[in-house]
Amino acid sequence: MAVWDKKILWGFTFLLTGAAGVAVNYPDHICAVKGSTVTILCTFTPLKSAIRAGTQVFFEITRVRWCQNHLICHGTTPSVYDSQSESNDPRYKYLGDKKGNCTLQINDVKKEDEATFRFRMEANDTPAHYTGRSGVNITVSDDSPMMVSSSSSGREVSAGENVTLYCTALCTFHQLEVTWFKDNHALSESGPALQLSPLTPEDSGNYTCGVRTNDKTLSLPYSLHVEAEQEGGSNPSLMVGVVFGVLLALVTLIMVVCIIRRKRAAAADTDQRAVGGQVEPKHPDDIYSNVLPPAEQGHRQEPSRAVEEVSYASVQFKHKNQDRLAKEAEDAIIYSAVASRG
Ligand SMILES: *[C@@H]1O[C@H](CO)[C@@H](O)[C@H](O)[C@H]1NC(C)=O
Ligand SMILES: *[C@@H]1O[C@H](CO)[C@@H](O)[C@H](O)[C@H]1NC(C)=O
Ligand SMILES: *[C@@H]1O[C@H](CO)[C@@H](O)[C@H](O)[C@H]1NC(C)=O
Ligand SMILES: *[C@@H]1O[C@H](CO)[C@@H](O)[C@H](O)[C@H]1NC(C)=O
Repeated sequence: MAVWDKKILWGFTFLLTGAAGVAVNYPDHICAVKGSTVTILCTFTPLKSAIRAGTQVFFEITRVRWCQNHLICHGTTPSVYDSQSESNDPRYKYLGDKKGNCTLQINDVKKEDEATFRFRMEANDTPAHYTGRSGVNITVSDDSPMMVSSSSSGREVSAGENVTLYCTALCTFHQLEVTWFKDNHALSESGPALQLSPLTPEDSGNYTCGVRTNDKTLSLPYSLHVEAEQEGGSNPSLMVGVVFGVLLALVTLIMVVCIIRRKRAAAADTDQRAVGGQVEPKHPDDIYSNVLPPAEQGHRQEPSRAVEEVSYASVQFKHKNQDRLAKEAEDAIIYSAVASRG
């Protein structure tokens, strides 16, 4: 108890002399997949100096350590890492230093790593010893499989596109040793993102991912189908069919229009003969120029207007038809350009 009292006393003294600011900053709760590697990013601010008996004394951190589940992590408390120990478990790798970085990496995470981890610094003098008591809680997810998602919304993608597949899990990770499989064959790529760019039809297949050291994390397959580039926009055989159908309809329409015209002309001819041997009109304008009895006028105007409309309509359709032919020719050029590239 005497030791404790002394510590409290010293603590009080240093508070008065501006020792405030000594701290350890841990990340938030970490969820790690069993078998993966997790990095606890950590920083600390040590006590650098203090006034003792009127003179400033400087401290130097001489020992750093990490413990599980112990509030102080001092003395003979077992530690997962101790800078003064020769027999640290190689699974725990200290990536920090004795100045301000207390980062700890845990490799091949095991269920027993589900604990509260705390960092302690010890100096050349007791007053500068300090443990960051809040700690960081680590949970270990055992056999929850990973999931594959894609940067593209659909599973059907076209050759030449860029797609990235992501390996994710319910937990978030600082680092993942992700391994990828395509149709159950391991790929050389690793990491949570698998870039497939530019895509070729050979990239089609079932993709799975998981943490290298944990079979239970293997994801369900993600099936990717890459379409050949020229089939990307529209189906060429379907387009040709549609164009032929439209042409056939137009030809039929023009024929029908011609037949109607002839029949109307013939009817007008008979009409005129009945009225009294007037000259057969060759054009709609001729009809208007003809002098007719008022009684006859209404009767005569109707068919002529119809002829006008029909001829106008046929001109319109012919124009459209040409547009389509031009478009078809354009498409054919694009298509042949694409085909020659492939
Ligand atoms: C601490 O060290 C780790 C590992 O070397 C590094 O990734 C991290 O950026 C460092 N942190 C700071 C604040 O320098
Ligand atoms: C860590 O978990 C313990 C219970 O196991 C809880 O009391 C504590 O508040 C947690 N700490 C943090 C930083 O979440
Ligand atoms: C695909 O990515 C490459 C670079 O990796 C880029 O040059 C290209 O323009 C991208 N293509 C598409 C369709 O985004
Ligand atoms: C991908 O998996 C599906 C069933 O999920 C299967 O029908 C298909 O043949 C597989 N493809 C390959 C290339 O193995």
